[in-house]
Amino acid sequence: VVVPAGEQHKTQSTVDKVIQEFISLEVDRSYTIVGVGGGVITDLTGYIASVYMRGLRFGFVPTSILAIVDASIGGKNGIDVDGYKNLVGTISQPEFILHDLSFLNSLPEEHWKNGFAEIIKHACILDKNLFAQLKENNIAYYQNDKDALAALIYTNVTLKAQVVLNDEFEKGDRRLLNYGHTFGHAIENTYNLIHGKAISVGMMFANFLAAKTNSFAESTAVADLLQQYQLPVQQNFEAALIWKYFQMDKKRKGSVMYFIVLEHIGKGIVQAIALTELEQLLYAYEKEQGAF
Ligand SMILES: NC(=O)c1ccc[n+]([C@@H]2O[C@H](COP(=O)([O-])OP(=O)(O)OC[C@H]3O[C@@H](n4cnc5c(N)ncnc54)[C@H](O)[C@@H]3O)[C@@H](O)[C@H]2O)c1
Repeated sequence: VVVPAGEQHKTQSTVDKVIQEFISLEVDRSYTIVGVGGGVITDLTGYIASVYMRGLRFGFVPTSILAIVDASIGGKNGIDVDGYKNLVGTISQPEFILHDLSFLNSLPEEHWKNGFAEIIKHACILDKNLFAQLKENNIAYYQNDKDALAALIYTNVTLKAQVVLNDEFEKGDRRLLNYGHTFGHAIENTYNLIHGKAISVGMMFANFLAAKTNSFAESTAVADLLQQYQLPVQQNFEAALIWKYFQMDKKRKGSVMYFIVLEHIGKGIVQAIALTELEQLLYAYEKEQGAF
């Protein structure tokens, strides 16, 4: 079953079309569904396989850096609704994840950069040695040295898998993986950015919050690394639109929102910010970045 590429297809209408195809192929519970593609495909596959006939076995062959180091791991799957990212989904684990790095030979340059956003995220929240290693290198180095790339992927897969193994249902440390994602998700669909670029800008917003609320002082070092991997660190935006998006965020609880910020590079923490304070800070950030 072939699904058109792009985040705009991570929706219920694609799910319906795939299910129609499953019906005509007479797919039954003896099948294993295998998603071959980037994170859009692994998210969709996991979701469809979890709901079709109340759940079939599934596995992934992730083909983008981002899907290899992040999206395929951890069992979160789902779709966007009304522009809200991943609003509907389930947590169910794949039976297997198969890496074949030769797929990366055809991955467009833009999507190499995209994948490094989540790698830098892992370094920021969990691993200062990885941060230091990334500082020494660049995308071309990893593209040209397959062993270095495989080692980098192994480090990142292990980091994410360990977090998920300890906290599959996101009651504790799994929340750290959302560093950059609250603001990132809000701008991703609003301004049509690819996921990694949106998360890159989102990490900088989290750093802004940390600087204001926790006197975090390493924002420039994070920005420098993101730019070294050709990722954006700012984006003009309209605070009113983003604020509306925040109201629907899964990390909002009553009058507070949980943000992931850095205590220092290599250590992410969960911080509750009152919605009133968050709104003020969002508008202050809009002023700093320039309105859309
Ligand atoms: N479930 C999770 O835990 C999780 C974590 C992070 C991101 N995500 C999701 O992952 C998605 C982003 O994933 P992505 O960046 O892989 O996007 P994507 O799936 O849209 O893939 C990016 C583009 O690259 C193409 N592509 C993929 N592999 C290729 C290859 N080997 N050669 C040539 N072209 C290739 C795709 O067709 C697409 O056009 C977002 O929807 C995001 O929400 C999910």
